[in-house]
Amino acid sequence: MKLAERMSHIGTESAFEVLAKARALEKQGKSIIHLEIGEPDFPTPAHVVEAGQHALAEGWTKYGPTPGLPELRESIARYISRTRGISVAADNVCVVPGGKPIMYFGMTALLNPGDEVIYPDPSFPIYESLIHFLGAKAMPVPLVESRGFSFDLDTFEKSLSPKTKLVILNSPANPTGGVIPKEDLKKIADLLRDRDVIILSDEIYSRIYYEEKPESITQFPGMVEKTIILDGFSKTYSMTGWRLGYGVMPKWLADAVTLMAVNATSCTASFTQRAGLAALEGPQDAVDAMVAEFKKRRNTMVQALNTVPGFRCSLPAGAFYAFPNVTGTKMPSKALADFLLTEAGVACLNGAAFGQHGDGFLRFSYANSLANILEAIDRIKKVSTKWA
Ligand SMILES: Cc1ncc(COP(=O)(O)O)c(C=O)c1O
Repeated sequence: MKLAERMSHIGTESAFEVLAKARALEKQGKSIIHLEIGEPDFPTPAHVVEAGQHALAEGWTKYGPTPGLPELRESIARYISRTRGISVAADNVCVVPGGKPIMYFGMTALLNPGDEVIYPDPSFPIYESLIHFLGAKAMPVPLVESRGFSFDLDTFEKSLSPKTKLVILNSPANPTGGVIPKEDLKKIADLLRDRDVIILSDEIYSRIYYEEKPESITQFPGMVEKTIILDGFSKTYSMTGWRLGYGVMPKWLADAVTLMAVNATSCTASFTQRAGLAALEGPQDAVDAMVAEFKKRRNTMVQALNTVPGFRCSLPAGAFYAFPNVTGTKMPSKALADFLLTEAGVACLNGAAFGQHGDGFLRFSYANSLANILEAIDRIKKVSTKWA
């Protein structure tokens, strides 16, 4: 028996593969510092956990409405309206189990074979995986290191065609930590305003930034009408395992995403949604404390990475990843990542796992303690005689 033909076009996320490899080495007794995984190392805030526990005790253990609990959709609509400076309603909100299903449901609902999709390169590997899975045409647009990993806008413009159906933006970005500047977003909005395209604006790292607050493309005229905002609780509230995310989009698209959810999930866990409500409506000091800690680690990590022979790392403006250029080592970044795992006990990701233009870079997550970060860089320096 063979799998369906479409399975030969689907990709994966290599962070999980590297994590499995690292865990296998740990089982053999090797010490590994984990800088590969994209998840905050902080606990879910206590009041959110309590709300989840209460919800379980109160019986929020049954099916709920497919697009989400009304009180959570209302809360998300208020939150997005306030933080993005736009006006959206509960009708525009689809609550799903994590941010990822918004990609899967939204792209499946929109894309026909042959439709062109513009997306950043390097970027979250699931974008490209789903584009190929759905038979659409991948139109990666390189991110430029010297522009803080924003697009080259001329290349962006040249990639647009009458077949462009979807444009994916991600700011702050995985894997680069880059934030698209407001001027660039305005130009992109101007390029897209009169086109029949939808924008998938992945804003999952919207609260994790260290300089100016990242802007959403939806703040520019005519954009709310053609944008799916993807956001969620995984990163902001350290809730990766609760599986809670959402999309905010025009009603006709929300109806389509809801139909996909009826077919795939029925609904998102009800007690999880109650915890999400407490996260959005309750105190935000845990988020502020997490971001302040990330900022310290970012500064330390980038400074330390720049002392490794052959590494050059710019200061990321958001998310919790450093993305050094390692071409100075003259080692292919895949071989370098493997070498660092097996010889230095430092798990990181090859930049090329995020797209062709990530080749020559490594992604280090700083969702680990300052002590571990410093130890990791020390270990890397010790083995750098291999290339230095
Ligand atoms: C850019 C980006 N979007 C979406 C997600 C998915 O988030 P979730 O765990 O909520 O599905 C991630 C997770 O790593 C991400 O990096």
